[in-house]
Amino acid sequence: MESEHETLVILDFGSQYTQLIARRARELGVFSVVLPFTASFEKIKSYYPKGIVLSGGPNSVYEKDSPKFNKQLLQLNVPTLGICYGFQILAHTLGGNVTASPRREYGLAKLQVTAISKLLTKKFSGSKIWMSHGDHVTSVPPNFIVTAKSGNIICGAEDSTNKLFGLQFHPEVSHSQNGMPILKQFLRQICQFSQDWSSENFITQSVSQIRQLVGQSNVVCALSGGVDSSVAATLVHRAIGSQQTCIFIDNGLLRKNEYQEVLEAYKEMGLNIQPAQVADQFLGKLKDVTDPEKKRKIIGAEFIKVFEEKAKAIKGVRYLVQGTLYPDVIESAASSNSSVVIKSHHNVGGLPEKMQLKLLEPLRELFKDEVRDIGNKLGLPESIVKRQTFPGPGLAIRIIGAVTPEKVAMLQEADAIVREEVIKANEHKGLWQFFAVLLPVQSVGVMGDHRTYEETIAIRAVESLDGMTADWAKLSHKVLGTISNRIINEVSGINRVVYDITSKPPGTIEWE
Ligand code: XMP
Repeated sequence: MESEHETLVILDFGSQYTQLIARRARELGVFSVVLPFTASFEKIKSYYPKGIVLSGGPNSVYEKDSPKFNKQLLQLNVPTLGICYGFQILAHTLGGNVTASPRREYGLAKLQVTAISKLLTKKFSGSKIWMSHGDHVTSVPPNFIVTAKSGNIICGAEDSTNKLFGLQFHPEVSHSQNGMPILKQFLRQICQFSQDWSSENFITQSVSQIRQLVGQSNVVCALSGGVDSSVAATLVHRAIGSQQTCIFIDNGLLRKNEYQEVLEAYKEMGLNIQPAQVADQFLGKLKDVTDPEKKRKIIGAEFIKVFEEKAKAIKGVRYLVQGTLYPDVIESAASSNSSVVIKSHHNVGGLPEKMQLKLLEPLRELFKDEVRDIGNKLGLPESIVKRQTFPGPGLAIRIIGAVTPEKVAMLQEADAIVREEVIKANEHKGLWQFFAVLLPVQSVGVMGDHRTYEETIAIRAVESLDGMTADWAKLSHKVLGTISNRIINEVSGINRVVYDITSKPPGTIEWE
């Protein structure tokens, strides 16, 4: 769906902070999209941007294949802010000088505003700023003035006549004091955004867009019980009511009791739901499959098969509604040099090429916290809005190695214990996810007087804002001990429990 909001276009030059710029803009009420730096002029223009940000990035402007700035963008006459590499490439392209540094410097520095600036008012002088750079700009292009320094380093520059701005530091990172006011100054005063992006607006606009798009046809929705697909379904329900049929599949890879609990929660919401119990079909296809990407593709393909079959029984179905979010789109995209495919998330990457239904993904541009907020505004029950993220391929990607019904049952029990105990100990607040993973590792143990040779459960618990990066959670030893005792005593086939202390990066949250 084309966007109808005033838009900030963020060109991604590969920084780990690019998504953060998009989030900050949204927090300031400005709708933002991230495009690869290679996006064509036409593509960028099609968003009618009211402002452009050039993100940071790991390269040096002097490297042979370093990302380039498309000078054609200047024709748009739109305020443009280069951050870190974005500033360097802007300066380099327009005739300034950039000095290469042998090594990267990270950390806090102090901002000194040295001239009258449209972006950096005097009150920002003395603020701590977050720097993470190798090269830096040593002379600014013609028409630019230096507006700020930190020590000898040029930290800010602008050509206010042509509405071009550059910052060497990262205002989007929370360590930068006054980072938000600086971004606000750019968005509000310089770009003149009306800051009208809000969940209420989003709901009104999407409801009318969905109505227009779908017309008289019918749609099926892939409901998983998670917050994303539930919000997508409720939004579509608001737009077209009974033209939508939601298909909720029990693929045998859900958490313990999840199928019944979710059906119960949906009863209240007035959605038209068709359950499908097809565990045997999925588990049959997964028999002996160990490769994670293969598992994902198989599950994606089976999902679509079930939907298409169900949809055939309903007249005039043209769309499949999915709760795909922005991070799924970014993480599955190989659209720029900077994003490589790490995993094909099933609801984006695993779709068969010849799928007969068109996709309707009303949340494709949103982050998780925005979706939860919209869920609240739409009146979804708390049990759904606050539900832990659960991956589309379900427990299949938390059972390392081949998936069998016995292993699913084992993992369901262990996982239920992890969730129950973390919540009981009140350590779940601030956690993004906490769950169990079944490893194909057998080890020797002793229970009673018997030797055991059984499998291993790994506990995974992480803190994260949006699943894009994560820290392993510092669960208390007490709760870890309780979980370990309970799993070994209550789940037959498990004789060892370990705790995963890997952050993302370098790990991912799910093990496969
Ligand atoms: P990773 O494991 O890539 O996951 O760090 C990031 C977040 O996305 C959730 N999620 C999925 N992960 N396949 C995945 O590997 C999927 O289809 C999928 N859907 C959602 C995951 O649970 C984590 O929160």
